[in-house]
Amino acid sequence: MSSDFPARFRAAVGSGATLIAAPGTRESRLDFARSVAAGLSDEPKWLHCRFLYDAEGSRLFERITQQPEYYPTRTEAAILARHAAEVREITGPRTLVELGSGYSVKTEHLLNTYVDQDNPLLYVPVDVSDSSLREASKSIAERFSDVRFTGVNGTYRSAFPILRQLSPQMVIFLGSSIGNFNPAETTAFCRNLAGHLPTGDNFLLGIDLVKDIAVLEAAYNDAAGVTAAFTKNYFARMNRELGSDIDIDRIEHVATWNPELCRIEIFAHFHTDQEIYIEPLDERIAIAAGERILVEISRKYRVSEVADELARFGFDTRRVYTDQKEWFALLLLERSDDSVLRRSPFAAMTR
Ligand code: AVI
Repeated sequence: MSSDFPARFRAAVGSGATLIAAPGTRESRLDFARSVAAGLSDEPKWLHCRFLYDAEGSRLFERITQQPEYYPTRTEAAILARHAAEVREITGPRTLVELGSGYSVKTEHLLNTYVDQDNPLLYVPVDVSDSSLREASKSIAERFSDVRFTGVNGTYRSAFPILRQLSPQMVIFLGSSIGNFNPAETTAFCRNLAGHLPTGDNFLLGIDLVKDIAVLEAAYNDAAGVTAAFTKNYFARMNRELGSDIDIDRIEHVATWNPELCRIEIFAHFHTDQEIYIEPLDERIAIAAGERILVEISRKYRVSEVADELARFGFDTRRVYTDQKEWFALLLLERSDDSVLRRSPFAAMTR
């Protein structure tokens, strides 16, 4: 990553630019091909979930969030709406940095309370999709004339080098997106955030909680079949971009609860033998009838475990907000001082 990004970002904020591209964001067709080849050559086979979100996948995910069975989005939005004013009161006027902001819809509850004529809020959404940042910038400009908006088109990691200059700030990571990380990615994320966030700054984290298995499994097996289409789109994308010729109709979406690892696991179950051709690498990978490819994980949490683990990375839990059924939680954390032990690999939490 080019080291002049923090300076370019500072200049963008100074000039009132609404969008800046972080270096190294765009993944090429070859990056996609290599990731697919690596996962499919492993045993058991897997695919990296970040490639679920091409334009079609992002559109399908938006629809998932509107399905009656998919409770996380509306539950989190209600918690935010209810407690945003208190979050603002506790944290004071801040710059808000949102990781994986999408269309920033839920964030508007927070923006409502942070708007302050004397002290205009700087909102820095970070997302790999520049189209969603552009839409968010338009809708926020219409509704919040005082908010200064500088979006970063990049991955979560691309935001870390600019955090020091944005202090005092609150970093927001909603939707339980942390649950899609594998244990190594979770550790890297927490360690990186702790390493870049100055002492006293805040972190607002949304986490989906452990609950009745039927509720969890229904959320990932909606009756309208939108989540199934989301999973299958991975393979349709391989057909579109990698020259594969996968028969999508012979793949089934399977989402089940894994009690040992405390997570929903989403697989593509192959009903027939198929060969996946990866044109950029001129590689062919055989998938046997009955084989399952792990496409996504969605970890579910217990509040006390998360708070304990985050404490080891240097975050103090200031407040825990939840809904009546305790299905989802928002943790308001503060970066504590650097002397706190930060070596835990999150192992107890993520196994
Ligand atoms: C983005 N992420 C938090 C979603 C989840 O619930 O894990 C992704 C998703 N996949 C299928 N449905 C929703």
